[in-house]
Amino acid sequence: MDTAEIRRRFIAHFEQNTSVGAHTAVPSASLLLDDPNLLFVNAGMVPFKPYLLGQATPPFPRATSVQKCIRTPDIEEVGKTTRHGTFFEMCGNFSFGDYFKQGAIELAWELVTKSQADGGFGLDESVLYPSVLIGDEEAVALWKRITGLPDDRIVRLPPKENYWSMGVPGPGGPCSEILIDRGPEYGAERDWDAGDRYLEFWNLVFMQDELSAVRSKSDFDIAGQLPSKNIDTGMGLERVAYLLQGKNNMYETDVMFPVIEHTEALTGKKYGADHGDDVRFRVVADHVRSSMMLISDGVTPGNEGRGYVLRRLLRRAVRNVRLLGYEDPALPELFPVSRDRMGATYTELHSDWERISRVALAEEEAFRKTLQSGTQIFDLAAGDLKRSGENRLSGDQAFKLHDTYGFPIDLTLEMAAEAGLSVDEPGFRSLMAEQRERAKADARAKKGQHADLSVYRGILDTHGPTDWLAYETLETESSPVALLREGRSVDSLGYDEIGELILDRTPFYAESGGQSPDAGIIEFEGGRLEVLDVQRPVKGLVVHQVRVVDGEFTPAAAHGHQLHAQVDPEWRIGARQAHSGTHVVHAALREVLGPTALQSGSFNRPGYLRLDFGWTTALTPGQLRELEEISNRALREDLPVSWQYMTLPQAKDWGAIALFGETYDQSKVRVVEIGGPWSRELCGGTHVEHASQIGTVVVTGESSVGSGSRRIEAFTGVEGFAYLARERDVVDQLTGLLKTQPDDLVGRVSDLVERLRAAEKEVERARTAQLLAAAGRIAEQAVDVEGVAVVAHRASGAAGGDVRTLATDVRGRFQGDRPAVVVVIGDGGGKVSLVTATNEAARARGLSANALLRELGPVLGGKGGGKDDMAQGGGSEVGRIDEALGLVPGLVGRG
Ligand code: SER
Repeated sequence: MDTAEIRRRFIAHFEQNTSVGAHTAVPSASLLLDDPNLLFVNAGMVPFKPYLLGQATPPFPRATSVQKCIRTPDIEEVGKTTRHGTFFEMCGNFSFGDYFKQGAIELAWELVTKSQADGGFGLDESVLYPSVLIGDEEAVALWKRITGLPDDRIVRLPPKENYWSMGVPGPGGPCSEILIDRGPEYGAERDWDAGDRYLEFWNLVFMQDELSAVRSKSDFDIAGQLPSKNIDTGMGLERVAYLLQGKNNMYETDVMFPVIEHTEALTGKKYGADHGDDVRFRVVADHVRSSMMLISDGVTPGNEGRGYVLRRLLRRAVRNVRLLGYEDPALPELFPVSRDRMGATYTELHSDWERISRVALAEEEAFRKTLQSGTQIFDLAAGDLKRSGENRLSGDQAFKLHDTYGFPIDLTLEMAAEAGLSVDEPGFRSLMAEQRERAKADARAKKGQHADLSVYRGILDTHGPTDWLAYETLETESSPVALLREGRSVDSLGYDEIGELILDRTPFYAESGGQSPDAGIIEFEGGRLEVLDVQRPVKGLVVHQVRVVDGEFTPAAAHGHQLHAQVDPEWRIGARQAHSGTHVVHAALREVLGPTALQSGSFNRPGYLRLDFGWTTALTPGQLRELEEISNRALREDLPVSWQYMTLPQAKDWGAIALFGETYDQSKVRVVEIGGPWSRELCGGTHVEHASQIGTVVVTGESSVGSGSRRIEAFTGVEGFAYLARERDVVDQLTGLLKTQPDDLVGRVSDLVERLRAAEKEVERARTAQLLAAAGRIAEQAVDVEGVAVVAHRASGAAGGDVRTLATDVRGRFQGDRPAVVVVIGDGGGKVSLVTATNEAARARGLSANALLRELGPVLGGKGGGKDDMAQGGGSEVGRIDEALGLVPGLVGRG
């Protein structure tokens, strides 16, 4: 049975169920949901978390989905065993306070054991073993009654196996898994946790608890019961696929294996012939698919967070193909194979293909360059080590290769091993840890927020969500709900102290969707707070970071709506201009570059905006001008701006652009339009009412932000005009300076540059001529040392190339049989430049320029190197140049 059919049967089974009731089929959410605890969606239940936790009312009592997931804690382990991959699809059925254990067990058992002819998976009952959490005798009794299996076929396991949580605070509960016995060749009988014999393929979670802390799979704190008992199940699509296809593991299914086959064709290697190669084949198959799905959901390669995971996946895929022996660009070969297997379900892989493949290819190209330059650096470091008789690459060097050249440590380790060197890995790891700590400290300092969200959740639970009025008003009378300082509840804030204030209602816009938080003040009787930042650390709760700028703030002493919250109106106008400006620039950009140019991130604050988008080449000046022109035309035409709510499918039908990384509520999204269909985006930001209110859009620059991603920056409103005024000032000053008109400015400046260049060339020519003229004179000053003409000359003010030219030229004056040794030492730039040279006759007498240099170098506090005919070096001891020159005749005599 192919994977598509398994998927179809799963959904149909739940959608058409009549015993507990029909389930609503929900399409897979993006891999990127806005959960501060999760890098990626890692289980089928993640999109339903607010319903499971009782934070939002579910629009349906039952649901079913096949959710794309990514788990990346152990990328290095991928392929070494066949059990795990980074990307997988989870089939699930969910009950939100509807059916519980009995319904879940009945539904799962029916689908698994029903014959294939009747639409089930037709697995043989005699090899199936349900597991339950030790102590959950209710589940044991249900399994026995529903399946008719004897007691010893129901396996009781400890919490490590059969208590499920997200690994972070959130919902959890005891679970029950269905295991399949794959036979004695996979391990010992009834050995539940070792080996691959008893494979778990479906996990039924009886979700009833809310966890406040999770330290490990068996060590967690249950804060209380969830408002309702829920069901969350997850059936691994890949696992069921290989079981039903009679294969050994997930890499051999109809979806994954074609990538391995294509890799075989490229590399000429065979899967199944060598363990090391097999691991590489599997890494390639897994990483190609995961990275394609991530790019499709809007991640671009970068150096942190999601972008970094993507970069690692892509680079590991490329490198493993290389290790298998294929050196040409591999992703253009392999991505289409994976797309063709996944594209029927995820149609955006086809419609967005141009962008997806461009991002992947750009990263591959960048990595190929990295490999090239990093390899050179590595070779140099390895050479130095060997020369100095050492064989251990320092942690510092490995770190530099990683940090500066993007060289993964495993690559360094491997190349070091090939070169017969070891690597100070602990040293490297500790430098990495230091860097991470620094980054974390930076992030903490920037946000002033607490990683532990439970405090905010507690406030939300007790007081309910903030009444958020940012769309309606700029000021409200509000009551304080909670006051925090460094994560703890406090009664007061003294003058100049900073804390976090939660109000029952607020007009302040919390940072989101790229729009920066509102600025403003909150007045209380006897004083004032300045609002420094506004965030929404948990959904529904607006938190103001405030500083007391007047008086002392003691909220409990007052009562009623005693606070006056006031957004700075100027700030908000600027913010609205900038945010609408961002939409305008985005729409204009898509007009210039075509619809594949898609925003991947944005930021705007009053007067300024920037927009990042997936694109591999720099925009030409013409394209930038066009972008600015189209943007300002939208302003001149005064396009109307409006917003309305609709369901997500409606919004998509409308062609609204959903931005990556945002969580959208399927049933209600906000669509902001500028000029009807011209710009339609899902957006929760604040906007102007019609485009001319933006004032102006001045595009100031375009740059690269990592491979495959470009950034546009622009000023809006008053800032835009101020920017132009500054430019006009510069032009004024230049015209004044050059005594010319603005229109002639470019001509005048290029004229000047031209003349400057010519003058520099002339100076250079004169200097060389002077040097060469001196050469004859210097040669004449040669002294004779045992028949060798010895020149030891100090070239005042000369350095580097000049010293070398001079030495070469002086040596050239001694032709024929007369041996000559020339030493020229320059002192230009406050440093020693030393060149030694010998002619052929001198070398015939055994005199070596390099040997001479080695004698002189230490005197001059430096070193250098070369050959017998010419050697060059530098040093710091300018004061000892004459002494060094004095040594030359003696050294020649001795030689
Ligand atoms: N959430 C559970 C899991 O991920 C069941 O869906 O295994």
